[in-house]
Amino acid sequence: MRILLTGSAGFIGFHTAKALLERGDEVIGFDNFNDYYDPKLKEARNKILRQYKNFRLVRGDLKDKKSLKKAFDLMGAGPDTRVCHLAAQAGVRHSIEHPEMFLEDNIAGFGNIIDLAKERKVGGFIYASSSSVYGDSKISPLSEDLNTDAQASLYGMTKKANELQASVYHHLFGLHCTGLRFFTVYGPWGRPDMALYLFTDWIVKDKPMKIFGGGKMRRDFTYIDDIVAGVVAALDKNYPCEVFNLGGDKTEELMDYVKIIEQCLGKEGRKEFLPMQPGDVVQTSANVDKARKMLGYDPKTQIREGIPQFIAWYKEYHNIA
Ligand SMILES: NC(=O)c1ccc[n+]([C@@H]2O[C@H](COP(=O)([O-])OP(=O)(O)OC[C@H]3O[C@@H](n4cnc5c(N)ncnc54)[C@H](O)[C@@H]3O)[C@@H](O)[C@H]2O)c1
Repeated sequence: MRILLTGSAGFIGFHTAKALLERGDEVIGFDNFNDYYDPKLKEARNKILRQYKNFRLVRGDLKDKKSLKKAFDLMGAGPDTRVCHLAAQAGVRHSIEHPEMFLEDNIAGFGNIIDLAKERKVGGFIYASSSSVYGDSKISPLSEDLNTDAQASLYGMTKKANELQASVYHHLFGLHCTGLRFFTVYGPWGRPDMALYLFTDWIVKDKPMKIFGGGKMRRDFTYIDDIVAGVVAALDKNYPCEVFNLGGDKTEELMDYVKIIEQCLGKEGRKEFLPMQPGDVVQTSANVDKARKMLGYDPKTQIREGIPQFIAWYKEYHNIA
């Protein structure tokens, strides 16, 4: 396959691109290397992708149709082409301070790329949605047939808007569209704004750990390799129009997550318990039956195995003995 993969310098995009390149697909990466978090991390991921001869990169912005067209030109058209759209503004809390960025990148940018996918008649359009579309739902576990009319953050709202647009593009133009609702993804090369990276950093640097929601939050954590397997299966199956939960299939207490990080580092953190932040939800718990059945999705990695993988990478990346 030839795949135009947006967000290739990002956490999930990097790992997905690497898996596709390793099995011999051609990947055209697309990213603007924005500075929401340290772009050096994005450059380091990109440096690894550049080692594959079946990888090409377009440095461009979703808001700029000219650079997007360049990437589509490199991919060409036909049934063996796919767009794997993972680029987005991805921070829930950031969406409260900078709603304009989310409307521009996640809604207008999404509109640009899905429209080009339709125009160029690509074989399929697979895109990142999020567990945030469920808002602060009290139902557990969350399954795809639940009502998703009440998001708790602007970020969640943008992802819901993407799902609606994809469904309309399938209905009107026959574009094959698959939305993937990721649940808190973690692992090596992870995002510095997410809990695992922040907690590790704070413990290592002896800084107080800000723990929101009084430590009472529960999350369905999903290891990156499991997510990648789900994304690749969605690209291969290329269903006409579906949405899937991709979660870890187990809900963990936040404080158990913290405990494992401390055990891996051999050091206890100084905890500062704070109230829930606006936009946050108390619990996420994914029902992944649909993905199991239709994608062969089978999340295997428990936090006890996944967190040490992250810590090993963190130490190597930051040169910590
Ligand atoms: N990581 C998670 O736990 C999680 C959970 C749910 C959903 N998601 C979604 O998965 C996708 C990937 O997330 P991630 O964790 O890898 O985030 P990330 O921030 O590491 O990666 C996103 C990448 O997109 C790029 N990008 C952003 N706006 C762009 C634009 N306008 N033009 C070009 N490139 C742009 C960024 O530079 C970045 O490299 C996102 O759509 C995110 O919303 C992630």
